[in-house]
Amino acid sequence: MRLLIATSNPHKIEEILAVARGQETELELLGLKDAGVDVPEPVEDKPDFAGNALLKATYYAEHAKLPCLADDSGLEVDALKGAPGVISARYAGTTGGRDIVDPANNQKLMQELGDTPADQRRARFVCAMALAWPGKQHEPILVRGTFEGRIITPDQADDPKQPHLGRGTNGFGYDPLFWLEDRGCTSAELSPGEKNAISHRGDATRKLLLALRHWRVHEPASP
Ligand code: IMP
Repeated sequence: MRLLIATSNPHKIEEILAVARGQETELELLGLKDAGVDVPEPVEDKPDFAGNALLKATYYAEHAKLPCLADDSGLEVDALKGAPGVISARYAGTTGGRDIVDPANNQKLMQELGDTPADQRRARFVCAMALAWPGKQHEPILVRGTFEGRIITPDQADDPKQPHLGRGTNGFGYDPLFWLEDRGCTSAELSPGEKNAISHRGDATRKLLLALRHWRVHEPASP
């Protein structure tokens, strides 16, 4: 079965492919470029991660005429009533490449939290992942993965004068600020394999592949 992975974020593609390749040998996984899909990104205007994941999977499935997997993910901080949530990618309102947008978002997050004590900085990454078929041939599959942690305090950053740069250089987005109490490091200090084993995206990918395997066993006729 050929499956399109619809994301333009190279970090997300790597994370999803690493988990999928470790588990699935019968799937041919294609990126947008491999499938020759060159269309504008859809507007993610749904109020929750699940709605946006379904919107993206359906949109790209129609354009590629292939079953398509897409995710929508972000960070929820309890002390900020769940913000940045669905607007995680554009929290600071800055435009440009990831090297500009990510530090701006992280700076805003650290400013918003100010001197909130460590035990009130609880947060989680959430990943909704959807698989949709072209022509709505089948009901889409929708799953959700989570990853619990907290946001570092300014004094935990490598450079306390630039707390938004946090700790670690792996991963992307808010990873340098996402503290894992039991590991004593941020998710940007984990290797890609370590992050995939416990992350929201790893969790969602494993759940989705399991649901897909179940679907393929029970579907009336394989495509
Ligand atoms: P999306 O592309 O609309 O799903 O936006 C996801 C945004 O949430 C990213 O741009 C990051 O800011 C944040 N995010 C999601 N997953 C992660 C992760 O694994 N690490 C760090 N930031 C993440």
